[in-house]
Amino acid sequence: MSTILFSSLLLSVVLASAPPTLDTDEDLQKTGFGRPPPRHGLRLLKWYVKACLDNNMEALCDPVAGEYGFHPFGNEEDLLPRLPDGQPLGYFTIGNLHSPHAQDLPYDVRKDYDPNDPLSNEDRVLVKYNENTQHVSDIFISEHYNKTRTYIIGPKLLAFLRQLTHHFYIEM
Ligand SMILES: *[C@@H]1O[C@H](CO)[C@@H](O)[C@H](O)[C@H]1NC(C)=O
Repeated sequence: MSTILFSSLLLSVVLASAPPTLDTDEDLQKTGFGRPPPRHGLRLLKWYVKACLDNNMEALCDPVAGEYGFHPFGNEEDLLPRLPDGQPLGYFTIGNLHSPHAQDLPYDVRKDYDPNDPLSNEDRVLVKYNENTQHVSDIFISEHYNKTRTYIIGPKLLAFLRQLTHHFYIEM
């Protein structure tokens, strides 16, 4: 009985496990995420962390209002850690270049989009967002919600990305 209980607890912990954390730019490069073109995810990530967050992680791009193609991410398959009940927290995803308002993304982010080439539209940035405080607490990157290709951006990597200068779009 207790073994069964323990096993199911263990199983739910494993199922709800968080994606691996990327701590450095080298970690990020090693994943191969979002590059080379027509992949757009690396440019999307770099734009997002600079343009859509203030220094206190307050959202400058409104996920709830659907700015830049943001929409809620249901997390039905536990791609990301489960959210606690009863809190104003939600996951939101950005990066589908076919979404309404995605045309508001910078040209450098969306320029390689080809509706006939899935590779040009497979990268996503996901955020954990508190609708009351309007703060983002976690940022994830994902190759079209593939669990083995989904990562958390750790605080050190986030700080690194946020201090990059404006020529970041063309460095890859
Ligand atoms: C998920 O990523 C892995 C590793 O790159 C790959 O082998 C697998 O085919 C991908 N799954 C899907 C559904 O694309």
